[in-house]
Amino acid sequence: MFIITGNYGEKIGKELQSILNIRLVQPIIKKFPDGELYVRVNEKVVDDIAIIVNNAFNGESILETSFLINAIDKMGVKKIISVIPYLGYTRQDKKFLEGEAISSEVIAKFLSMNNSEIFIVEPHSNNIGKYFSCKVNFISPAEEIAKNYANKIDLVISPDKGGIERAKEIASLMGVDYSYLNKKRVSSYEVIMDLNNVSVKGKRVLLVDDVISTGGTILKALELLKSDHANEIHVVCTHGLFLNNSDINIVQNSTSLSCTNTLNTKYSTISISPIIARQLEKFIEN
Ligand code: R5P
Repeated sequence: MFIITGNYGEKIGKELQSILNIRLVQPIIKKFPDGELYVRVNEKVVDDIAIIVNNAFNGESILETSFLINAIDKMGVKKIISVIPYLGYTRQDKKFLEGEAISSEVIAKFLSMNNSEIFIVEPHSNNIGKYFSCKVNFISPAEEIAKNYANKIDLVISPDKGGIERAKEIASLMGVDYSYLNKKRVSSYEVIMDLNNVSVKGKRVLLVDDVISTGGTILKALELLKSDHANEIHVVCTHGLFLNNSDINIVQNSTSLSCTNTLNTKYSTISISPIIARQLEKFIEN
């Protein structure tokens, strides 16, 4: 058994390799003069089980992950398992308007090819599971998030109803209450929100979301929680994209900002590698 990572999974791949104590294979990844991607695995790996660790969220990383899977498959390994810490295109998981492409379906079909099993850390919607033609497992970072804030929080809040299960899971691990705010998305950049009768006065709040993209959701939530005089507001998310330097605004308006290490940022202080490793160990035992 071995682990192989691309340019979008190196850090978690190395952490997993050290926890699981298995071989790390380094692929050759380069670009042709016209920008086309080239992937080669130049180590003997025949008759083995491969664990490919790479994010797949933009054109380049999705291609890189697929090329790695293809290269490994062509070498005749027994089984391919892909770990995708951050999978993109999970928000367009259905047709919201007539004529739209279901992006999640296309990406899932693409990544399923030649895979035996895929592990994905908290996709935006579990609905995407049905688009994969191989077995797919979703990994929740709740345990590591709860550990990080143990005894520091009175209330866990999701900025929208869609995130209520996430808030509940983290809150129950911490033995505290949870709630959610009312959010309505106006555009990709704009949301409207109200407190949904939640009272945070004097409380230490953990504001939790799956992804912070433009920061619009979290900034609006911070505004409301501050106006209701929360004592502390800690912001945490699984995938920190922080587009347009939104992290700066969030840091200025909160007590702290952290995310998991599915994406490498200066706030990626919560490692989800132990959780992924446990899931892989279970898979290997079976
Ligand atoms: C939406 O349902 C998600 O859970 C996030 O709240 C959202 O994608 C965050 O996006 P942004 O940071 O652009 O508001």
